[in-house]
Amino acid sequence: MPIDKKFISSFVNVTSKAALASSYLVGKKDKKAADKAAVDSMRIELNKMEIQGKIVIGEGELDEAPMLYIGEKLGSNKGPKLDIAVDPLEGTNFAANNLPGALSVMAIAEKDKLFNAPETYMEKISTRVKDNDIVDLDNSVKDNIYNLSDYLNKNPENLTACILDRPRHNNIIEELKKLKVNIKLITDGDVAGALLVTDERYNVDIFLGIGGGPEGVLAASALDAFGCNFQGRFLFTTDNDKTRANKMGIKDLSKKYRLNEIIKGDSIFCATGITSGDLVSGIEINGNEYISETLVTHKSSGLKKKIKLTEKI
Ligand code: FBP
Repeated sequence: MPIDKKFISSFVNVTSKAALASSYLVGKKDKKAADKAAVDSMRIELNKMEIQGKIVIGEGELDEAPMLYIGEKLGSNKGPKLDIAVDPLEGTNFAANNLPGALSVMAIAEKDKLFNAPETYMEKISTRVKDNDIVDLDNSVKDNIYNLSDYLNKNPENLTACILDRPRHNNIIEELKKLKVNIKLITDGDVAGALLVTDERYNVDIFLGIGGGPEGVLAASALDAFGCNFQGRFLFTTDNDKTRANKMGIKDLSKKYRLNEIIKGDSIFCATGITSGDLVSGIEINGNEYISETLVTHKSSGLKKKIKLTEKI
């Protein structure tokens, strides 16, 4: 059953309040404190809602995280059963060092319709192209760029690829350079990176590379509402990763997941800016009021917009 529109404003309120709480710790060089402020606020606000929510992507397993742990039940225990994925502070470095791009992010889906991502890395690719056969994780970088170039009728030198600036991406970056593709390197924050393909205004044609698995699932839920393309493949490297995957019922450890295998049915996605970045503006405090900006999508009603709110502190 679709998620009722009446919940949208409450979920926007949850990420806005979490962003505000974290904003007080911006530039304090304390990633943990900035994260904790967002986590605490998100938990308090979610518990006020008339929902039967369950965290499917959160701060870790119960033994690692006392709050917003995977499996934690939230809400008044009345209302719709919902799966909730949270990243209360996406971009802990950004917040700690007062750099652009820190976000408070949440995705909500119908019960059992959101992939429960393990805390591992994920190889990802996203584009604005809906067709499944234009870019593919199994293609070489060159084939993906040539296919996209043909499809968009743009030369490779007029395409822009966004990728996390990490040594593990040196080969991809070298290949993109050879193809004369413009590169937008990001130092962190690949939820926003993956979402830069959603609007031509951001001038990013393809996002690719390896980042966090939970961040991949969060981005996928918004990309689904935007009608964009996404593929992800978890990377299980350590024995611990593999055991965890088995416990979660993942049998094929090298499976490539398409968007419709990561998110099914209806969803709401909210990302509120803590510090201003490409996607949304950060929290602004004026006296006893604050202004927040949230990118919000609701798949079943076709809602995809940025909402600015002015609220009393
Ligand atoms: P945190 O907010 O947890 O610090 O994550 C930031 C981030 O850049 C994510 O956006 C990205 O998915 C991940 O870290 C990449 O991990 P790594 O820094 O290990 O390459």
